[in-house]
This record gives sequence, C-alpha cells and structure tokens, in this order.
Amino acid sequence: MVDSASKLAALVGELAGERPPRYAALAARIRLLVADGRLAVGIRLPAERELAAALRLSRATVTAAYRRLRDDGWASAQQGAGTWTSLPAGPAYGAWAPAQPTAGVIDLAHAAPAAPPEIVTAFTAALRDLPRLLPGHGYHPAGLPELRARIAERYSARGVATTPEQILITAGALNGITVALEVLIGPGDRVLIEHPSYPNALDAIWASGARPVPVAVDTADPAAVAVDVTRVARQTSPRLAYLMPDFQNPTGLLLDAEQRGRLAAGLHGSGTVALVDETLVELGLDAAPGAPYAAFARADRAITVGTLSKTFWGGLRVGWLRAEATLIQRLTAAAVRAQLSGPVLEQLAACHLLDAADATLPVHRDRLRAQRDALVRALAAALPRWQVPVPPGGLVLWCGLPAPVSNALVDAAQRRGLLLAAGPRFGTGHAFADRLRLPYTQPIDVLRRAVEILAEVVDILPAIDPGSAPSRLVV
Ligand SMILES: Cc1ncc(COP(=O)(O)O)c(C=O)c1O
Repeated sequence: MVDSASKLAALVGELAGERPPRYAALAARIRLLVADGRLAVGIRLPAERELAAALRLSRATVTAAYRRLRDDGWASAQQGAGTWTSLPAGPAYGAWAPAQPTAGVIDLAHAAPAAPPEIVTAFTAALRDLPRLLPGHGYHPAGLPELRARIAERYSARGVATTPEQILITAGALNGITVALEVLIGPGDRVLIEHPSYPNALDAIWASGARPVPVAVDTADPAAVAVDVTRVARQTSPRLAYLMPDFQNPTGLLLDAEQRGRLAAGLHGSGTVALVDETLVELGLDAAPGAPYAAFARADRAITVGTLSKTFWGGLRVGWLRAEATLIQRLTAAAVRAQLSGPVLEQLAACHLLDAADATLPVHRDRLRAQRDALVRALAAALPRWQVPVPPGGLVLWCGLPAPVSNALVDAAQRRGLLLAAGPRFGTGHAFADRLRLPYTQPIDVLRRAVEILAEVVDILPAIDPGSAPSRLVV
C-alpha cells in the first residue's frame, strides 16, 4: 500500500486551483504520479475514507476519482482488497529503427553516429586474419573466443574480474536484451524500469508480456534513484530491473560508486536481478564512470549488456552479455535458437577496434563533446526558455520544454525536414509530453541548422500558456 493516506495526499498536493470537477482533478494527479513512476505500479491505494480525510475532500469525490482511474486502466479493483495502481495497456509504438537517409532531411530521431575511419582499418586487418580461421567450420555459438577474451579482459580492467566463459557475443545490445528477457522473465512478471528509458527495451519488455514498473529518474537528484528503486522493488517484487547507471538514455544520468552500491543492495533485498545496459559507458565526456555495476552486485544478480554500436558504429552489430558462466550457457542456448552463430569477420574487426580503443576513443569523445557543447549553446541562444541540462556523457540532451507540446513540435518539425523523437516515446506512453530528446551525434553545422528549424517551428506552434497544463507535478 502507499505508505499512508497522508503521504499520497502530500504527493497529490493542493487541488483548490484545479478546474472542476474535483474528482477528475484528483484522478488526473494520481494518474500523473503513476505515469511518472513516483507512485509504483501494483500497489494498493489508501482506503477512500482515509484519503478523503487527508485531502479534506468528501469520500464520494475519492470514490469517483478511483472509479475514473479504474475505468481508464490506471487502477484495478481486487474483490474485497481495495484499489491497486496499474498501467493501461502498453503503447502501440512497436520497435523503433532509424529511417533510411533522405536527401535534405536531418535525422535527430536516433542517436547513431556515422562510422569513424578506424572501421575500415579494422576490417582490413580482419581480412588479413581471416585465412587463419577458414579451415574451421566457422560456427561459434557463444562468440569468437578471442573476442570473448578481449571483452572479459576489459571488464577485469574496469574492476570486475571476468573470464571469457562469462561473455556471450550478441548481434548488438538490443539482441542481448531480448535474449536476456526471454531467459529471465515470462508473461505477467514485473520488470522495474527507469522512467524515462530506452524505447526499444521498453518495447521488448511489453512484447515479452511482462509488466513494466516505472521509477522516475531525476538528474537533479541522482541519489534518489537508488532510494526510489529500493522502495518500489520492495513494494512490487519485480523479477528484473532494466537499468542504465552509465549515462542513462535519455537523461544522461551517471551513478557514482556509492549510489551503485545502494542500488545493488536495494535490489538484492527484493531478490531482483539487474539487467544493466552499458551501451553508453565508454562515452564519458566530462566524467568517467567508475567500476561497473556488476562489481557491486552478487554474481547471480547482475547481467550486463554491452555493444560496439555507440563507441564505434551501429552497422557492426556486435554486442555482448556478461553474466555468471552457468547463466551464459542458458543465454547461449536461447540466442542460438534465433541465430546459430555470429559473423566471423565482424568479430575479428571488433577485436581490432578494441585493441586500438585507447587511442581512438578519446578522439570520438572530443568530437562528441564539441558537438554537445555547440548544440547546448545554439539552444540557449535560440530557445532560452528550454531547460537543457548538460549530461556528463552519452549521446543526447533531454530537454525540458516550457509546455507539453512535444508531439506537436515533432510533427511540425518533420514537415520542415527535421526528424525528432518526442518525449512520450521514452516512457510508458503516458508522460514526457514536455520533453524532447536531441542527439548531438551529427556535425555542428547540421545541429545548428536543426536548432534554426526548431526555433521556426516553436514560433508557429499555437501559443500554450505554460502554466495551464503541466505534465509533471513539482512535489
Ligand atoms: C541504451 C541503449 N541500449 C541499446 C541500444 C541498442 O544498441 P544496438 O545497436 O547495439 O543494438 C541503444 C541504441 O540506441 C541504446 O541507446
């Protein structure tokens, strides 16, 4: 149950200024709390009489608000056991892949940098290596041994001892996520997610029949993440938690060692396994992440997802899972069902890319930092009312808009040749209308042009009083 009626009343806040009827305003506030992840999914709401007293409303008002929440799918009644929070059926977004490039169209919908020159160098070297492997059958279900060894070494160097048997090579991070979901969860299981989160992972979680349990992520208060995850995990006992402690997509949040330790301890308490997505871990622009989350968790409670897609190029399709060796065997069995083995040449090229990473990645980071800073400056000059926190790493800005116009903005920008991803894409479908994610993966002149288009579009959007429709309560 929400700890008490008075706590929920404090979260709901003052309703006096809201447009009547009062029950609809109360339902809308509770709905927002659930959508944002500040009120966990799957917990019991306070008894109507108690909440009515705490809010100084009539019981009939609370009864009607709870009925509205149930009618809209934000709550469900359990015979004789009160009213429980829930999420309406999942959004019908589906998987989300970059569009084919079109001349004259700027694609800022996806955060996918162009290939750096070292890709060609790595493939040239891989072709030279290939004859050595040609006498064999070419099937390596868990991945090419030399690539598994290199990835294991990198984990050990980052502070979590790892053997090659703990690594399964996958076709990118998303493939790793879906393999892990297939092995670890089933229909009806709860999966704790950060909110906002990475859309394709959310889609995979919905598709597995699991129920996402959102927990709000606030970059202004990173310490709150571990506290909130622990509380929600205790309340809802999720089987899995999908987390990005290293430059979270889309907020850029980076957790420090103490926060990782607390997160691991909190999830341990509820028996929850963490599926930790480290897709962006190598992209520290102002800060380098500390030891991996896996260094803080019990060995059987952490599965790590990695990829070369953002550090090098999405076209490589080389990623991996790190877990206990016995679990890696189960994950390999599941992966093999969809793809018997990964391509050898790509894995050889991946070895060369990793061998040269210490020399090439600083250049990649310098370029991203310059692009990030240029985009931040252009936004500050052209759209000063936007809130643009500067992330310490990763590939994107998570911008706060002065009004909940994200979808309208994205539609209008598309008509002017600028593709964007609206804020709601990063949630359970019911939040972030006042957010926009902007990647800084394109060259600076393209980013500046994109901001010009944004400024033109904002000018022609219907004026919305920023005070009239907040999509997030400040509590
Ligand atoms: C957080 C996160 N995880 C996973 C992926 C998918 O990566 P891959 O292309 O390696 O499948 C992305 C791609 O944008 C991402 O941002």
